[in-house]
Amino acid sequence: MYNISLDELPKYTPWVNRLLFEDIHYSKNPYEISREYNEEKWHDVKKYLMENSQSTLEEIISLGGGDTAGYIASQGGFCVGSMIEFYEKQIEKYVDFIGKYWVEDSPLIELGAGYGSMLLKLAKHFNPCGVYGLEYTDNGVWALSEFAKRCNIDIHMGKCDFFELSKEIQLPANGVIFTSYSLMYVPELSSGFLDYILEMKPRVCINIEPCYEYYSTSSLHGALCKKYVEVNDYNRNLVEILNSGEKDGRIEILEVEKNSFGENALSPASFIAWKSNID
Ligand SMILES: C[S@@+](CC[C@H](N)C(=O)[O-])C[C@H]1O[C@@H](n2cnc3c(N)ncnc32)[C@H](O)[C@@H]1O
Repeated sequence: MYNISLDELPKYTPWVNRLLFEDIHYSKNPYEISREYNEEKWHDVKKYLMENSQSTLEEIISLGGGDTAGYIASQGGFCVGSMIEFYEKQIEKYVDFIGKYWVEDSPLIELGAGYGSMLLKLAKHFNPCGVYGLEYTDNGVWALSEFAKRCNIDIHMGKCDFFELSKEIQLPANGVIFTSYSLMYVPELSSGFLDYILEMKPRVCINIEPCYEYYSTSSLHGALCKKYVEVNDYNRNLVEILNSGEKDGRIEILEVEKNSFGENALSPASFIAWKSNID
């Protein structure tokens, strides 16, 4: 992995020029998300798993392609590396951040877990008293179940939907709940979103998401990240929802690490930890 400057970024990602010179705009809605994940990405993972009975999470990550330009604040900012190098750094970063809030014998719960590339690694690390993976797509749930078997992890699974604020399975109270690059798919979370999470009675909730409101147009990088969210119709109100929950006393925000890590340099995630003030 090596560092590059912001000025060099267009050599490593087509997105800078796309954002500046192309008139494009995508929409995120249930139909588009099902197409992207259920019919394409997680369908392909399922197919690969059916054809390769021994393949691992690392193998699937490597299939994602060659080098990528990311952003790791703790490593000096922009850097280029393989998908696997970013994956390993990402796990380290999640373990460090979530570790600050981990309490022995807690359930570990991920919402929008995909095929479990983070959840299963974190479950191996923290050894929770129960592992719960909720996901939007059927093929994601299938791949999560298959990978959990391959990793020897006993997992409770079901579907969840941030648009409908629904979930298929009952979750235990006092869980460490996290999201990772999943809330970003809902352009505007509804006002009931915080209550949806609070009803799960979390011990702590950790959102690892690109946050539109934390990208500042007073830097060139911030301005590009903001534009990237707009063009792709990613979420624009998570921070507002959390701040208003804190203002009306329902939650306490424990820590915010802004724009800290992204395997995509134009979409670094912020790490936010918060807890419920409701018994
Ligand atoms: C980029 S993947 C991240 C997967 C996993 N959280 C991780 O970090 O590896 C985005 C995930 O969010 C899920 N997702 C998208 N829209 C969702 C929604 N409305 N409700 C719940 N999950 C959603 C997708 O199905 C997909 O699995």
